[in-house]
Amino acid sequence: MYTEKVMDHFSNPRNVGEIANANGVGEVGNASCGDIMKIYLKVEGDVIQDVKFKTFGCGAAIATSSMVTELAIGKTIDEALVLTNQAVAEALDGLPPAKMHCSNLAADALHEAIKDYREKHPA
Ligand code: FES
Repeated sequence: MYTEKVMDHFSNPRNVGEIANANGVGEVGNASCGDIMKIYLKVEGDVIQDVKFKTFGCGAAIATSSMVTELAIGKTIDEALVLTNQAVAEALDGLPPAKMHCSNLAADALHEAIKDYREKHPA
């Protein structure tokens, strides 16, 4: 049912935890399943230097959180803002259709964290 990449990121999630001096934090929840994802960003000069996450959710939510942190690190905030749930799912070689909503959580939490950063650091 799950690809090897999903199982890998679920079993060995990358970048788990929080960033003490994060300058952008985003949290989203899924009303139907009750899962919650929180993403912490360390942005310097418009580039995402570090990303950490905490997810209380299903295996697919953990795998997509882990993948979204890997995709976001090193990107500018503009590049990270266009990362879609589809891109996260593709980077994991796909998710079962019933689990696609879990990848929305990852991209949405990242976008919320960037929004928070922008509000705190107006250009
Ligand atoms: Fe809730 Fe996957 S079942 S995020």
